[in-house]
Amino acid sequence: MPEDKEKIREEIERLRKEIEYHNYRYYVLNSPVISDAEYDRLFRRLQELEEKYPEFFDPNSPTQRVGAKPVEAFGVVEHKVPMLSLANAFSEEEMREFDRRVKRFLGLSENEVIEYVAEPKIDGAAVSILYENGKLTRAATRGDGIRGEDVTSNVRTIKTVPLILVDEELPPPPVLEVRGEVFMEKEAFKKLNEERLKRGEEPFANPRNAAAGSLRQLDPRVTAERPLDIFFYGVGYYEGVEFKTHWEVLNKLKAWGLKVNPLSKICKGVDEVIERHKYLESIREKLPYEIDGMVVKVNSIELQRRLGEVSRSPRWAIAYKFPPTMEATQIVDIKVQVGRTGVLTPVAILKPVKIGGVEVSRATLHNQDEIERKDIRIGDWVFVERAGDVIPEVVKVIKERRTGKERPFKMPDRCPECGAPVVRDGAYHRCIGLACPAQLKARIRHFVSKRAMDIEGIGPKLIDQLVSKGLVKDPADLYAIPKHVWASLENMGEKSAENIMKALEKSKNVELWRFIHALGIRHVGEHLSQVLANRFKTLENLMKATEEDLLKVPEVGPEVAKSVVEFFRNPENRKVIEKLLKYGVRPKPVEEKEEEKPLSGKIFVFTGALKSMTRDEAKNLVESLGGRVASSVSKKVDIVVVGESPGSKLEKARKLGIKTINEEEFLKMVGRA
Ligand code: IVH
Repeated sequence: MPEDKEKIREEIERLRKEIEYHNYRYYVLNSPVISDAEYDRLFRRLQELEEKYPEFFDPNSPTQRVGAKPVEAFGVVEHKVPMLSLANAFSEEEMREFDRRVKRFLGLSENEVIEYVAEPKIDGAAVSILYENGKLTRAATRGDGIRGEDVTSNVRTIKTVPLILVDEELPPPPVLEVRGEVFMEKEAFKKLNEERLKRGEEPFANPRNAAAGSLRQLDPRVTAERPLDIFFYGVGYYEGVEFKTHWEVLNKLKAWGLKVNPLSKICKGVDEVIERHKYLESIREKLPYEIDGMVVKVNSIELQRRLGEVSRSPRWAIAYKFPPTMEATQIVDIKVQVGRTGVLTPVAILKPVKIGGVEVSRATLHNQDEIERKDIRIGDWVFVERAGDVIPEVVKVIKERRTGKERPFKMPDRCPECGAPVVRDGAYHRCIGLACPAQLKARIRHFVSKRAMDIEGIGPKLIDQLVSKGLVKDPADLYAIPKHVWASLENMGEKSAENIMKALEKSKNVELWRFIHALGIRHVGEHLSQVLANRFKTLENLMKATEEDLLKVPEVGPEVAKSVVEFFRNPENRKVIEKLLKYGVRPKPVEEKEEEKPLSGKIFVFTGALKSMTRDEAKNLVESLGGRVASSVSKKVDIVVVGESPGSKLEKARKLGIKTINEEEFLKMVGRA
């Protein structure tokens, strides 16, 4: 090769290595060492050279991550070391049994302590990736464990997969096959599904399916657009390196730039394993990705070798699962619920089933379109998911279990509560009855709720009585009920009547935003209520505002502006407001100059799990100090608080140059350190 050509080749090689290193700093370590502009310069220079000298093309170049051309079908890859599967433990007792079995097999006594490594079990798709002389040469799915599919082009598009291994601390071995789990973060999954729905495509049932489906795209350019990520958890075939423990495997993977789950931990003995399982289960909801349990592995490789395997599973590892969040059950009926704006929501009445220790007997079906899309019928067997405190959802119909007796559901054309006509309104059906008791009940439930007037003691059962006895026709009537009438209601007495009178009295001195929220104006939720209160300062001002005035508020769009004006123009609504004022409700005007609080005007975002408090507690704390909490990162955000296992929000914050602080710094900032 002529000398100048050789120089070019060297520069290209150097650039590729350098850019890969910065990718690693950015995507894996979340700690870039150069600016985006510097990175872009390097990247453009490499692109330029590669274009000019196509003879130096290399599929491992960081410029090729965008995805190669589609293929007809995947090639077959035979795994040099089979990809085993894991046996499961579903309870503490089964976990202890595993520990005893390990000791028995090794001829150890019961009270000896085995050292384990516990890792989150990521719910995604397994891959095997081969590096030769530090370069990615092949990637395969697990397949049946013996043979998988060649998905090299697709895996190359995953930003957290190094194309070239880092060799700063430790030179990578000549041959190294690593194994890991490709997954999609919950947030990214949600967004992907929303986009698919908008385009009229079938949404993925869960992040695992989304990850597996994206990995097996015949067109790598499609994969490149999917927000895939990976955690590496082990090795397959390798040459030129030795490992004494699994912990050493994980640390070496980390040193080579492979992303290892930071929640992996050494546990000395089964008691520590069980404790760790409880901890991971407690933070499970807050993690940005789905985990379905913990994988427990004997740490010593020598012991692993002695334990060997039985029927495709190693004797030295087990999947210690969490209780499932999904269960199969039957839909016995579909009922319709009427909300405060008259929207009819179909609800599946289920044969009761325990999910994660809680009995579930109802699941929301959202609307008619959703029922048709999922083809849900009365009598169907379905998978129901209950995650955290969210309302249970029907994920999927088990069509294989249909008998032919299932009946399709149709929205009624009359309101089941008041008999008024039902009209279609976009994706929703709405009861147009002005005197609909179901709407009234829902309106009152909303009016008294915590984030509205915050009136304690008036629950759904009591509201049912108030409405059916004709004691309230609108929320203002609550203030007109005398104490002895409260006391005469079912399940009530002197004491509870007195408490309600006190709560009502207290609520008269309400913050303006709560009052606005309590009115239940369409499209005006908690946040917009706060925005409107801060902007218009008094109820009178807001009631007088024109659409034009409203549109000047940054967060208000035409739909909201129209809805607010229509609400206050409506004579019925005006009458209710007049009544409320007459009974002494006095929404507090917002002070011209808001008292300066320590976090006034500051917008926070949280990512990852906090150790010292829940998200809600953190939110309340920030708000009590005058700050605000947003759910996603944008340029407007001032501070991102980074907990354990942060999600993609951290990456975004770094990209936008937003200040990030850890939990300790946050606690200091709010005076809780
Ligand atoms: S170790 C012989 N570690 O769970 C050891 N697997 O049935 C085999 N998985 O197919 C796997 N997170 O896809 C291991 N930290 C982890 C894991 C993990 C998820 C998946 C993996 C495997 C399945 C086990």
